[in-house]
Amino acid sequence: MSVLVTGAAGFIGYHTSLRLLARGDTVVGVDDLNDYYDPTLKRARLAQLTAHPGFSFAHADIADRAAMAAVAARHPEVTGYINLAAQAGVRHSLTAPHDYTRANVEGLLVMLELARHNPKCRHFVYASSSSVYGANTKLPFSVDDRVDQPISLYAATKRAGELMSHSYSHLYRIPTTGLRFFTVYGPWGRPDMAAYLFAKAILAGEPIRVFNNGDMRRDFTYIDDIVSGVLGVLDNPPGDDGKAPPYHLYNIGNNNSESLMDFIGLIEQCLGRKADYQFEPMQPGDVKETYADISAIQTKVGFAPTTPISVGIPRFIDWFKQYHGV
Ligand SMILES: NC(=O)c1ccc[n+]([C@@H]2O[C@H](COP(=O)([O-])OP(=O)(O)OC[C@H]3O[C@@H](n4cnc5c(N)ncnc54)[C@H](O)[C@@H]3O)[C@@H](O)[C@H]2O)c1
Repeated sequence: MSVLVTGAAGFIGYHTSLRLLARGDTVVGVDDLNDYYDPTLKRARLAQLTAHPGFSFAHADIADRAAMAAVAARHPEVTGYINLAAQAGVRHSLTAPHDYTRANVEGLLVMLELARHNPKCRHFVYASSSSVYGANTKLPFSVDDRVDQPISLYAATKRAGELMSHSYSHLYRIPTTGLRFFTVYGPWGRPDMAAYLFAKAILAGEPIRVFNNGDMRRDFTYIDDIVSGVLGVLDNPPGDDGKAPPYHLYNIGNNNSESLMDFIGLIEQCLGRKADYQFEPMQPGDVKETYADISAIQTKVGFAPTTPISVGIPRFIDWFKQYHGV
């Protein structure tokens, strides 16, 4: 199978591409290598992918229609799409809102159009986010819950993406599946996310900012489990009975809500150093707790996460130390 993976130089895209290549698929990676976080890390991920003969890369912005049409023309062999390119991060959406509509709404539309005009398209898989649940208090979060009250623009663009994909599945019968990721962490992880920020600050002897006075819980999901889920989903496109649109939407999480303080405790343990806590109030747009009901993806795709944070955090710290030469 030939799969077009957008955001291939990103955290999840890099790992997903590696696994696709390892099982013998070919991958067309797309990324604009923007500087939302240090592009050196993106280039280091990409260097490993480009070493593989089954990988080709296009340095392009998915919202650029002409550039993406050229990618599609060069790669008529593509039958699957995994759209992970996005402007991520809840907090940044308060300061750079237009980056979110460009990548997550306009960019997604360009990708849906590529799939629509590709008669060989078997499945269009795209990233959504647990943030669509907003300030919902019913736990665990279920795909049947109400998601029309986003509390950040990031969440609003991710929900918009789900609705746009539904309309394309309905109108053009494109099999689409949305994945609501829950706090993904692991080796090669994002520098703007908790595990990386905490490890970096602790090693530098700097205080770590802990929001809501540490009273937060997250369904932390290890990257290898996520990739297994993404590939399982890719291989199981929704069928078309001619009535309901061929459209699936799943939570993809660890199905375990962990205390943020326990998460930090594990990082401290692995680094052999105590953190200097700087407790701060809840941040605008942030949510107190996430917890994924994964019964739908378990039943339909056999998704079964196996990595608790007690196993995943040491692996992340090992990579962090190696990457930074600590
Ligand atoms: N990591 C998580 O915990 C998490 C949680 C929920 C949702 N998600 C979603 O999963 C997807 C992947 O996230 P990630 O953690 O790998 O993030 P990431 O930022 O590491 O990866 C995204 C990649 O997309 C690229 N990109 C951004 N805008 C682009 C554009 N317009 N054109 C081409 N490339 C572009 C970036 O350069 C980056 O390499 C995103 O859609 C994100 O919103 C991630």
